Amino acid sequence: MFLRHLECTSCGLPHDWKRLQNLCTACGKPLFAIVDLAKAGRTLTREALAVREKSLWRYRELLPLPEGVEPVSLGEGGTPLLWAKRFADDVDLWIKDESQSPTQSFKARGMSVAVSMAKYLGATKLAVPSAGNAGGALAAYTARAGLEANIFMPRDTPRANIIECRELGAHVTLVGGLITDCAAEIARRKDAEGWFDLSTLKEPYRIEGKKTLGYELAEQFDWELPDVILYPTGGGTGLIGMWKAFYEMETLGWVGKKRPRMFSVQASGCAPIVRAFEKGDSIAAEFPGAHTCASGLRVPKAIGDFLILNILRQSNGGAVTVDDEEMIRVTREVGSSEGLFVAPEGAACFAALKSLRSGGKIAAAERVVIFNTGSGIKYLDCYEA
Ligand SMILES: Cc1ncc(COP(=O)(O)O)c(C=O)c1O
Ligand SMILES: [Zn+2]
Repeated sequence: MFLRHLECTSCGLPHDWKRLQNLCTACGKPLFAIVDLAKAGRTLTREALAVREKSLWRYRELLPLPEGVEPVSLGEGGTPLLWAKRFADDVDLWIKDESQSPTQSFKARGMSVAVSMAKYLGATKLAVPSAGNAGGALAAYTARAGLEANIFMPRDTPRANIIECRELGAHVTLVGGLITDCAAEIARRKDAEGWFDLSTLKEPYRIEGKKTLGYELAEQFDWELPDVILYPTGGGTGLIGMWKAFYEMETLGWVGKKRPRMFSVQASGCAPIVRAFEKGDSIAAEFPGAHTCASGLRVPKAIGDFLILNILRQSNGGAVTVDDEEMIRVTREVGSSEGLFVAPEGAACFAALKSLRSGGKIAAAERVVIFNTGSGIKYLDCYEA
C-alpha cells in the first residue's frame, strides 16, 4: 500500500490515515487519499495489470488497505464495456455496465474499499443515508465483514432496495423525507450509538473504490480516454473519483493529457448541479421539492458540489436535465436495442445523449461513454406490467 496521508480537497490540511476520519477537521470539506504514485508505479505497471484478476483489487497499490490485509470483497469491478451501435450509430457509443456488479450497482466498488478500511481501522457499526443502492451495497459488504449496518432511507425508496437491505441483515430505518433528512438523522445519533458514518464523500475511501471506474475505462480503451463521459449525478462520487483517476494515471505515465468532456446528467425534478452550472455558481444551492423516480439522482444538496462543478468546467463539459417520462420511455429503447434493462439513472444518460447531439454539444463520430450505474430490476415500481 502506498497511501501517504489524507488531504482536504478545499484547504489542503493533511490528516492521518491511520485512524477513522470523516470530513476535514478544519473546514468540514471532503478528504482525498494521497497515494505515492512514484512508488506505486514501480510494481503496478500497465503490463502487470494485464495478467491480474478482474476484481478492482487488481489496482491494489493505488488503493488504501495495508499489504497482507484481506479486502472485504464480493468480486466487484471488471464490468463490461459494451459497444452500443444499435442505440446510436452516429456516435461511437459505449456503455460501462455497472448493473453486473455485486448488488447490481456501481455502489459495490465504493463499499468494498470503504468497508475494508473501516474494518481495518476498528469500526464495528457502520451507518449510511441511502437513496437505495448504496444501502444494498453497504448491507452486503458489512455482512461479509461481520460488521453491523445501519441504513437510513427515504420512505419512498424503491421496495427492492428496502427488502434487499433487510434480507442482508442490516438495520433499516425509513425516514419521511429525502436523503438529506436521513443524513441529518445519522449525524444526530452517531456519537451516542457508536456508528461510523460512511456517507458518500464524508469518509475518504468510497471515492477510492469509485475511481477504479476511471482506471478500467482507460484500460478497456487501451489507454486512450474517450471524448465524452455522461454520468448520472447524485452525490457525484463516481465523477469525482474518475477525475482523480485520470490525474493519477497521467502522473503514472499511463495516459496523456487528454481528458474526456464530463457531463452531469440529472433529473429535471432534482437538478442542483445543472442549475448551479448554468448560473455560473461555484457551489450548488439546495434544490427545493426534489422528486424523481431515479432515486439515486434525488440528492438535493451534495457535499462535493464544488468539486463536481469544477470538473464539469475544467473538462469543457456540461450539465443537463432529463424528465422522468423521458427516462422511462428511453429505458425500453435501450432495452430493445442493446439488451440491457438499465436503471432510470442510466436511462437518463441515453436521453441526455440525444439532446446533447441535437444541441451540437457532441459531434458525430465522437467516442462517448455512458455509465449504466444500476439495474432496472430494482425499480419495478416505476414501470407498468
Ligand atoms: C443507480 C445510481 N446511479 C447514480 C447514482 C448517483 O451516484 P453519485 O452519488 O456517484 O452521483 C446513484 C446513487 O445513489 C445510483 O444509485
Ligand atoms: Zn479543509
